[in-house]
Formats: sequence, structure tokens, C-alpha cells
Amino acid sequence: MLLTTTNLTKSYHTLEILKGISLCVDRSDSVAITGPSGSGKSTLLHILGTLDTPTSGSLEIDGQDLSTLSESGLSRFRNETVGFVFQDAHLLPQFSVLENVLLPVRAFGRVDAAATEQAESLIASVGLAERMTHLPGQISGGERQRTAIARSLIMEPSLLLCDEPTGNLDGQIADTVLEVLLSSAVSEDRALIVITHSESLAASMSRRFTLKDGLCSEV
Ligand SMILES: Nc1ncnc2c1ncn2[C@@H]1O[C@H](COP(=O)(O)OP(=O)(O)OP(=O)(O)O)[C@@H](O)[C@H]1O
Ligand SMILES: [Mg+2]
Repeated sequence: MLLTTTNLTKSYHTLEILKGISLCVDRSDSVAITGPSGSGKSTLLHILGTLDTPTSGSLEIDGQDLSTLSESGLSRFRNETVGFVFQDAHLLPQFSVLENVLLPVRAFGRVDAAATEQAESLIASVGLAERMTHLPGQISGGERQRTAIARSLIMEPSLLLCDEPTGNLDGQIADTVLEVLLSSAVSEDRALIVITHSESLAASMSRRFTLKDGLCSEV
């Protein structure tokens, strides 16, 4: 299994958001998570991505028990193993498309010719070859989202987590972004987990979960 959670809970003071989530996700799985607003989907995704810690329960990714890592070990693990696509892209406005895609490489190492080539090829694969040097303010919402997808793949993560990647986009653009995401993200040694309200996206994933009343069930 790539990812295993056992009885994960998350509470804020007396408010129990997650009440015992036990999930197994394998490499090559593509998973949709749906559920009402406020049900804890983003909270769960942040915990799975090691950006937040559970109140109790355990999380293992790629054979690694996350609770045993130090803060710096955890950020290295996250950078190497987990890719994120957030709802609003989270690009740094002062950097170009190419520089944004290379940020995870720069965070822990040196940007060499091979990394640059890899970034350029990812950017081309999401249809932005002509936009490499544009700043986020000079591209469209769908293009920003596609840049975020390229960035999430630059470290070749085993686990790709997306929080409503098309939440701010409408119809046609949302569909294009989803196609790009699925075609570049689905791989034999990568698991994809996407929070979505989109029926068509959920239907195109291999597994589907619903989060409700603090519990997650496969449908
Ligand atoms: N830092 C926090 N402190 C207190 N409560 C929080 C905190 N973060 C989230 N919550 C609460 O946890 C609940 C779940 O939030 P979460 O963002 O995970 O929901 P969601 O399912 O992603 O909703 P949406 O579909 O609207 O994005 C919410 O009721 C929220 O108010
Ligand atoms: Mg959310």
C-alpha cells in the first residue's frame, strides 16, 4: 500500500471534525473524495499531505510512519513524496511559469539543466509551451491551474493531492484542466487523490469516497 491511515481523528477544541478515518490507497489508484461543505475534506487532505497533524491515529506513506519524523525530515519527505494542487493554484506572483514549476526543486537543491528540461517538458505537456516566461498575472485562471499541475509533478511524487483543482473554473476550462490532470497524473507508481464537487471528475476516477459526519466511506 502506498498510503494507510488507521483511525485518524481531528478535533478543534470540542469540535470533532474527523472521527476515525481508516483508508488504504494503492499506487495507481485514482480516488475522488466528495462530501458536504465543512465535512472535513480539506482537513483530511492536509493531514494526508503532512501539512497538518491528526489529533490521534496513524498515517503511513510509502512505508514511512509520519509521526516518527522530525520537522525538517517531514518537510523533505513532503517535498520528495507529495505533490499538491490547491484550489487557487498558489503560484508566486513575482516568478514566471517556469520558475514557479521549478520552486520545489529549488527548495532542497540546485536547479540544473536536467531539472529545467524536465520543467519545460511538463509545461509543454499541460499546453503552456508558449507561456514559459509569463508571470501568473499574465495568464488565465485555467493556465494558472495547469501551471500548478506541472509544479506538483516536477518532483515525481508518489502521492498527488488535489483540493478542488477546478473549483474556480467553469465548464470548458474545468474539463480541460481535468483532462490534463488525469493524463499527466495517472501513472503506475503514483496515487492521485482529488477532492471535487464535479460529478464527471468523480466518475472518471477508479475509486470514490464520501466524507460525512466525520467518517469516510467508499461508494
Ligand atoms: N483551524 C481551525 N480551527 C477551528 N476549526 C477549523 C479549523 N480548520 C477547519 N475548521 C473547521 O473544520 C471543519 C471542516 O473544514 P474543512 O475545510 O476541512 O471542510 P471542507 O469539507 O473542505 O469544506 P469545503 O467543501 O467548504 O471546502 C469546518 O467546519 C471548519 O470550520
Ligand atoms: Mg475544502
